[in-house]
Amino acid sequence: MNTAQMLPEEFLYGGDYNPEQWLDYPHILERDIELMRKAHINTVTLGVFSWAALEPEENVFTFDWLERMVDRLHAGGISTIMATPSGARPRWLAEKYPEVLRVREDRTRELFGARHNHCYTSGAYRDRVQMINSRLAQTFADHPAVLMWHVSNEYSGECHCPLCQEAFRGWLKDRYDGDIDALNHAWWTAFWSHTYTDFSQIESPSSRGDSALHGLNLDWKRFVTAQTADFLRHEIEALRAGGARQPTTINLMDDYTGLDYGRLAKEVDIVSWDSYPRWHRGADAETALETGLQHDLMRGLKEAPFLLMESCPASPNWHEVSKAKRPGMLACAGLQAVAHGSDSVQFFQIRQSRGSSEKLHGAVIDHYGGEDTRVFREAAQLGSVLGTLEPLAHSRVEAPAAVLWDMESRWAMEDAQGPRNARLHYHETLVKVYGGLRRSALNVDVIPASSPLGSYEIVAAPMLYMLHPGTAERLRDFVSRGGTLIMTYWSGVADETDLCFLGPAPHDLTDVLGLRREEIDALYDGEENRLVPAADGGLAGGKSYVCRNLCEIVRLNGAKPLLEYAEDFYQGRPALTVNRYGLGRAYYLCADAEASLHKDLAERIMRQRNLRPILADVPDGCEVTSRTDGSREYVFVQNYSCAPAAVPVPPDAELLSGAGNVLPAYGTLVFARPLAGKPGRE
Ligand code: GLA
Ligand code: ZN
Repeated sequence: MNTAQMLPEEFLYGGDYNPEQWLDYPHILERDIELMRKAHINTVTLGVFSWAALEPEENVFTFDWLERMVDRLHAGGISTIMATPSGARPRWLAEKYPEVLRVREDRTRELFGARHNHCYTSGAYRDRVQMINSRLAQTFADHPAVLMWHVSNEYSGECHCPLCQEAFRGWLKDRYDGDIDALNHAWWTAFWSHTYTDFSQIESPSSRGDSALHGLNLDWKRFVTAQTADFLRHEIEALRAGGARQPTTINLMDDYTGLDYGRLAKEVDIVSWDSYPRWHRGADAETALETGLQHDLMRGLKEAPFLLMESCPASPNWHEVSKAKRPGMLACAGLQAVAHGSDSVQFFQIRQSRGSSEKLHGAVIDHYGGEDTRVFREAAQLGSVLGTLEPLAHSRVEAPAAVLWDMESRWAMEDAQGPRNARLHYHETLVKVYGGLRRSALNVDVIPASSPLGSYEIVAAPMLYMLHPGTAERLRDFVSRGGTLIMTYWSGVADETDLCFLGPAPHDLTDVLGLRREEIDALYDGEENRLVPAADGGLAGGKSYVCRNLCEIVRLNGAKPLLEYAEDFYQGRPALTVNRYGLGRAYYLCADAEASLHKDLAERIMRQRNLRPILADVPDGCEVTSRTDGSREYVFVQNYSCAPAAVPVPPDAELLSGAGNVLPAYGTLVFARPLAGKPGRE
């Protein structure tokens, strides 16, 4: 099933709405619906954090207010995404069942408070969640306005309680087939005499105990993901047991490293996420690039359209500085999600809280309470634009290029001591590699490294420190069949247990790359080297590039150097190389180079492969993206600079949104054109 089969034929527009905070203010609830209609809102998310209002005492259920709310919204043409309330529990639950509260890594138990403070192993918590979820499902399973289930809220964090310790040991026993020697080998416990003789001795990582046993840390993180997935499954089973048939989603977060989203996404029907970029802090085009990467990563989790579940119509109140969005930014940010494959623009939140920690968080309806505010007007405007874009809903993004990421590899690499404890800059490298391709006006998929590579022309594998079984083979096969691979320094270092590979590196890929790594030099912050054209090479004419942080020294065995180091004892040694392998080519970048190198490299590869950009001559500061429904291509051009930009709109384009070909600051132009072959190909 895809979103087209699961959701209405329109973009969902709306966001989180918390009537439980306003039950004593009936006039406000009435007026809100009127205002929502004026803003063209068609969907709200209800029930996130409503547990105390739904079950004020154990087994006393008070759903009437929620039912009335859903009905009234429905009568006003507004659908509901229904949340399960497990993200925050009522006081009585924590008092009666203290085991539901989390234990920190230092083994102290949390008090009741905040949210997302639950033990995902606790049977008592699971029982109460089972009860309320199945009751909610019984009530709303057949409601025509309830579109989908939003399970919990932003799953995150970990628990080190005795129940979780026991579950962890059980999980390890399964993983190592009950063989403690296998675990000792995988974790290399002979180091510092940490050998286990029984699974019962194992404790989760702790600052008071083992914190630098990398294999333990890695397996703990895997366990946290597995246990969260198990809890999520439990929540969904309760919904299904209550008769719910609507699709499920979880709202994921921006660059969250506590869980492996690749694993979690498998449990739900649709991926959604919460996007809170720091607009207007530095260049917005940079912020747009990073946000675009996250959108593409969310799309890549299921290789399908996703939902933008939360975003802020004004400014969130948890950034260091609550910067107001400049005129146009609200629509620009929402349409960026759509351009990258979202089938919704949802806000947090519709009505601003009156008290507590989010009272100053931006909302569509603020404390003033009326429609004559700039934010409300801009929200209403975006609602009407989304209406005109309806034919695009559920269309797909097709990309000729993919960037691979791997959370387990990142966990291991960032936990490893060396080669640069002052940060490896993995995320920044991902952004630079992605940016090279995106800024060459290509759609880019950002996908887990375990994904099939079949249809891509270009695959980039930045800092793929860990190679799972099968990954090197898939990359080899991709290149030998004619693909272009971009691999970088600090790849192919360790296996899936974080044991370093023995033998030449990057492991199992030295023939594909035509080289092997000899050393890696780490630079202090502020230190630089330069990459200059090699004797018979060069990347873009005579250009040279600055590099920082990490510089690998490689020995060539067939690869041709394009750039070489200009300084230090490895001056003259290769820094960017290319190797022909089978029908394809493999590029290897040895150093953390500046962003412009990645764009020059992408453009070189596009020329080599005859790949055309979505749109040629896009001005700097503008982003171009496209979606397709199989017969037409829908092109989005967005201007993230503060000045108007001239956009080369092709003559056969049918304008769907925006006017003329001068795009104002934060403006978006959307046009349709017939699909000529596969996007990205000549
Ligand atoms: C997160 C949460 C919301 C709200 C917003 C505020 O995304 O899911 O409940 O706290 O942040 O930005
Ligand atoms: Zn626990």
